[in-house]
Amino acid sequence: MTRKILVTSALPYANGAIHIGHLVEYIQTDIWVRFQKSRGHTCHYVCADDTHGTPIMLRAEKEGISPEALIARVHGEHSRDFAGFHVGFDNYYSTNSEENRHFAGTIYRQLKDNGKIVSRTINQLYDPVKNMFLPDRFVKGECPKCHAKDQYGDNCEVCGATYSPTELINPFSAVSGATPELRESEHYFFKLGDCESFLKGWTTTPGKLQAEAANKMQEWFESGLSDWDISRDAPYFGFEIPDAPGKYFYVWLDAPVGYMASHKNLCDRLGLDFDEYWKKDSSTELYHFIGKDILYFHALFWPAMLEFSGYRTPTAINTHGFLTVDGAKMSKSRGTFITAESYLNHLNPEWLRYYFAAKLSNTFEDIDLNFEDFTARVNSDLIGKYVNIASRAAGFISKRFAGQLASQLGQVELLSRLQAASESIAQHFEAREYSRAIREIMALTDEVNQFVDQHKPWEMAKQEGREQDLQQVCSILINAFRILTIYLKPVLPKLASDVEAFLNVAPLQWQDAQTLLTSHTINTYNHLMTRIDPKQIEAMIEENKQALPAPAEAPAAAPSYEIPAISETISIDDFMKVDLRIARIANAQHVEGAEKLLQLTLDLGNETRNVFAGIKSAYKPEDLIGKHTVMVANLAPRKMKFGLSEGMVLAAGGDGGLYILEPHDGAKPGMRVK
Ligand code: MSP
Ligand code: ZN
Repeated sequence: MTRKILVTSALPYANGAIHIGHLVEYIQTDIWVRFQKSRGHTCHYVCADDTHGTPIMLRAEKEGISPEALIARVHGEHSRDFAGFHVGFDNYYSTNSEENRHFAGTIYRQLKDNGKIVSRTINQLYDPVKNMFLPDRFVKGECPKCHAKDQYGDNCEVCGATYSPTELINPFSAVSGATPELRESEHYFFKLGDCESFLKGWTTTPGKLQAEAANKMQEWFESGLSDWDISRDAPYFGFEIPDAPGKYFYVWLDAPVGYMASHKNLCDRLGLDFDEYWKKDSSTELYHFIGKDILYFHALFWPAMLEFSGYRTPTAINTHGFLTVDGAKMSKSRGTFITAESYLNHLNPEWLRYYFAAKLSNTFEDIDLNFEDFTARVNSDLIGKYVNIASRAAGFISKRFAGQLASQLGQVELLSRLQAASESIAQHFEAREYSRAIREIMALTDEVNQFVDQHKPWEMAKQEGREQDLQQVCSILINAFRILTIYLKPVLPKLASDVEAFLNVAPLQWQDAQTLLTSHTINTYNHLMTRIDPKQIEAMIEENKQALPAPAEAPAAAPSYEIPAISETISIDDFMKVDLRIARIANAQHVEGAEKLLQLTLDLGNETRNVFAGIKSAYKPEDLIGKHTVMVANLAPRKMKFGLSEGMVLAAGGDGGLYILEPHDGAKPGMRVK
């Protein structure tokens, strides 16, 4: 039976570039969609840019352009990046569209008619210079718990405390630097608590959520569902609420509605029946692929919004974990915050698609991109095992048999086994257990290679009277390669299309694995894929280290510290008396009983120094180890309560925080700094 399936990925924000973390999701979804299409189902994959909200409004302002101009540019960049990774959306739209305005308004009115919307006056911090209310992330100040300076309005990055922005000590607006005032404003709320019994039923319906997500739900139910603030005051880039002038829908209200808007736009273009997909009790399927950070929005707000405005609810929410690179969070300074664009400047997108597939399962577990493993795996699986099959057989077929495959393959157990694996591999793809699918496909690839080693076509080629055997063995190999290509096609669409050209066949579908190619002429073999050279990866990481754009969501804050006056002048000789050296922080540890100090072991190339530095408030010891810094190497040793301090590390500081100095890459321990 053919299914009608609508699939979405989360809508990326329109104020930043697509990076390889995002790509986990778009590649995961795209593989699933391509698999469904290959199985002959009707499947549409829609997405859009998430364009509304304060960060986008301020970002546009900073660039001196309109929000519309910003989102138009980013839409182009995102579309280009996704196409570069062969992410094949059926529609890539925008939340700033008439369709979205229509559906957001309709859903809001229905919720209101159903008594799910209330209004209430709240107190919120207001920037009197910028004349706007400030979202939590745009208020900064001193942490009320640990007194760390320059913390965001919702939580402290130093001690991890969460609080409301009104609790910050000495708060300031991150937009203008002004001291915010508390002001009253009327807001609209979605009564999520009223939807509790529906949500309890929905989230525990088998198949809707993965086990980990269902557990998370339990925690959220236990801590209670609070009303959700869905309105924002002007100035705000978004949709004005139909019956509330000057009030706008909060970006997260119209963002998931963007799934519908994008689908509606597609339906209008293709003449499809939108209502068939979205009406209550629709028999079509609807899947949302998301990251674990946005589960609350998709498993609570979104189903409740749909249910109480008269639409169908999702068939399932498919949640994945986060990407780490070489075991750590992606980092701009380490060069592992890799944008899609820079990846494509250096590496083949299908290497990453394959690697992610080989690692993805149906859980929230984070997945790690380890570059050594990446290189080894792609080179050995894809080049060494899979592509190798074609390259070993194709030459003989073209040169000896004018490209003609044998008319008889005989009873070949190998091919029957490849064909018989079809349903089991399909089940793994269906269940989003891609790593299992890949493991099974690679086990079959190993069998094919064993077959090559047993029959040794290169020896047959030298023996007289074995022409027919040679043609038959090579034809079996080409058939095996064709079947493996069918199984890998959802993961490697570009490679598969090159294989189709080489084999001189129409686009392959899943079902085609059950037929074999005989008496058929293939084209000459051209190299299908190159190996990864580790130098390409190094170059990519270097490039990302150099490109350090300002973080998208943090606008430049007015100085929150006092700039001290410059001291009186000194002579160059005075300066030369200070012997500054590059030091490598070989070790860093806490000092028992010391409030402010960390104990550093500094490597100066030919000696090490023990230094106590007052930087505990700003650094965790483990984050310092391995870094290079600058030290005063000829400072007279000082005896301190905890031991002898043999020098001083240079750091910038004052009221605005504390930052040790770090030389550019390449500086070596012991070098003199002048
Ligand atoms: N705009 C919202 C989604 C609205 S959906 C109605 C958003 N955008 S995002 O750009 O921050 O993220 C888009 C998707 O990428 C999310 O599902 C998010 O979980 C995912 N990822 C972003 N960074 C990621 C990693 N480092 N690793 C894996 N997925 C990541 O959230
Ligand atoms: Zn704190």
